[in-house]
Amino acid sequence: MFIPNINFSKMPPSYLFSEVARRVSAYRSHHPSVDIIRMDIGDVSLPLPEPVVHAMTKAVADMGTYAGFHGYGPEQGYGFLREKIAEADYAARGITHITPEDIFISDGAKSDCGNLGDLFGHNVRIAVADPVYPVYVDANVIDGRAGTLEHGRWSNITYLPGSFDNGFLPPLPAEDAASGSPAPDVIYLCSPGNPTGAAMTVSQLKEWVDYALRHRSLIIFDSAYEAYVTEEGVARSIYEVEGAERCAIEVRSFSKTAGFTGVRCGYTVVPATLTYPGEDGEEMSLQKMWLRRQCTKFNGVGYIVQRGAEALYTPEGQKAVRRHIDAYMANAKALRASLLKHGCQVTGGVNSPYVWFKPQSDLDSWQLFDLLLDRLHLTSTPGAGFGEAGNGCIRFTGFNTSDNTQEAIRRISDLWPI
Ligand code: MLT
Repeated sequence: MFIPNINFSKMPPSYLFSEVARRVSAYRSHHPSVDIIRMDIGDVSLPLPEPVVHAMTKAVADMGTYAGFHGYGPEQGYGFLREKIAEADYAARGITHITPEDIFISDGAKSDCGNLGDLFGHNVRIAVADPVYPVYVDANVIDGRAGTLEHGRWSNITYLPGSFDNGFLPPLPAEDAASGSPAPDVIYLCSPGNPTGAAMTVSQLKEWVDYALRHRSLIIFDSAYEAYVTEEGVARSIYEVEGAERCAIEVRSFSKTAGFTGVRCGYTVVPATLTYPGEDGEEMSLQKMWLRRQCTKFNGVGYIVQRGAEALYTPEGQKAVRRHIDAYMANAKALRASLLKHGCQVTGGVNSPYVWFKPQSDLDSWQLFDLLLDRLHLTSTPGAGFGEAGNGCIRFTGFNTSDNTQEAIRRISDLWPI
């Protein structure tokens, strides 16, 4: 008899962004004429850059010829793209120890953040910031590592609570045995952070790398938003920190930099130097394991898409990426300024396209979500959906158009006093 994975029955019935979409759609069906502005999921609004369209169009034409046809490609991605990434995203920024062989092209950061759990032993203890991108938690629940849900928290997960007091930078887990909680085996870090936009400096990140090396923990570093860093000293890659190549996997995406949310392409860096002892004490290479996993469960990203991603590394592609980022950052900065003016506590909007805020109000996140939707016709993502410590907060994205963002800001001023 088939036995379903019972971990699904422990989870909330829908994924955060699906729940938001469901509520927005229900509202829309009762109010078909209202002009709703989407400020919830981080989906981009600018069309694909011209160099990408050009490269993909050429790749489509190639695929229609005997000479240019490409069937199954390498599961880890084509060399032409892996080489460009190693050169432009690492070597050119002084990180010379990341090689094309360390880079695995993916269909986006979300899939890899979930799939990387295939590398973990069954009983590893994971640690996450709170609030946190829900994929890290949900994927471990599905894999049976999270324990039971008690008052909004999973019993086998270590939560590192953020607040406006600590700038939503997660504190290091307790290290002394007396604390009763062992050091986590896997630590998920996201910087610039989703949802709060908080970003770690290289020296703050060094504390995590040193911690992971001391405890032989593995860091999953999600840097999908690294291109939004504007401040000097803020880390764009964990490999800016010496030793990270021995304790960290880095996950990146073209979604938020180049309009690839619907195209699907990103990459994950698993350095050859990343090894951990197996049951027999022999060191196991995570790079070899990940390659084995990808060859078994993944057939690679399409040739046409990878040619499109490659075009981002031309001078015209780089200029287009800059234009996209500048446009979204201008939106995020304007949102941030407006919320600060209204007396909210705010993070993000400086090194991040997300703006995270708490109004002076006792309303919980879902009440605020309803209020914004019903009174202002603005969608948002409720902070509670990212974790207990997010309750009372709201996340807006800067990814809408400039006109819609300005209109949202105008409507926001109608809300006060809440
Ligand atoms: C977000 O809104 O947090 C992201 O767009 C979700 C994602 O990238 O999966």
